[in-house]
Amino acid sequence: MKKILVIGSLNMDSVIKTPRMPKPGETVMGTDISLIPGGKGANQAYAAGKLGGDVTMLGAVGADSFGDAMLDNLRSVNVDIKGICRLEGVHTGQAYITVNEEGQNSIIVISGANGEVTEKMIDENMDLIDESDIIIMQLEIPVETVKYVKEIAVKKEKMVILDPAPAVADLPDDFWKGIDYIKPNETELEVLTGRTMTTETELIEGAKEMLGKGVKTVIVTLGEKGCLYVSNKEEKIIPTKKVPVVDTTAAGDSFTAAFALSLSREESIEEAIAFGQKVSGIVVTKKGAQTSIPGIQELE
Ligand code: RIB
Repeated sequence: MKKILVIGSLNMDSVIKTPRMPKPGETVMGTDISLIPGGKGANQAYAAGKLGGDVTMLGAVGADSFGDAMLDNLRSVNVDIKGICRLEGVHTGQAYITVNEEGQNSIIVISGANGEVTEKMIDENMDLIDESDIIIMQLEIPVETVKYVKEIAVKKEKMVILDPAPAVADLPDDFWKGIDYIKPNETELEVLTGRTMTTETELIEGAKEMLGKGVKTVIVTLGEKGCLYVSNKEEKIIPTKKVPVVDTTAAGDSFTAAFALSLSREESIEEAIAFGQKVSGIVVTKKGAQTSIPGIQELE
């Protein structure tokens, strides 16, 4: 099995259940609040670890109780945490998530230690990049660091998977060049390309625009409609099974992790997408980020 390195964010999520999202200036009564380990990077590392991958994480937390909890949770699923720095004077990343009755969420992230994942930290952990085969990143650490890692990874012939979330507009073309896979959802693809997309044709055009910037393959997740796969050779919609949605938090993260894990087992792209859909299809039926991620037994 190939080795996966996740470079990215760790957040403690404060998850609030509410009948509906408040409008600007409005107060609504929530029904429940809980603290759940999250962060797009940590969710991906946790999912790939819990599903049996050989996973290491590089990132940063503060020297606080949330940092302890994040590390404990990753350790519990055999993620190697030697690349996670504990920083003094900065708090662990946090996310404030409201989830409505339809299971849709809105999220505000306060970076904290995630904002300190610098090029210097990458240089200090270069051995982790050298030892890895597949590198997964997201955009909750500084964009300059993601670009720096990508350039090193391309030179060292590592596979790079980028989950471009939260999406950042107007990134230069050289940011994208050489990335093996990106996995935006529809909204993220709109931000990346600066265009609204309402039809399948527009989504395909948007994905092809990203290919034009140097990405090798684009997988656009489309919720219950499945996903769109676009490479220089082919384009197709891959449908998925409809499931009852409780909370969509970490659906994209678990898709990315399961996709990468499947590739780490040398499975085909089709198998990797199907595995991503299977895992994220379970995640949306449960509450929270890392609390919703299944292990191998549950999958079986
Ligand atoms: O993708 C879900 C994640 O986004 C949450 O766990 C939250 O921490 C934010 O990073």
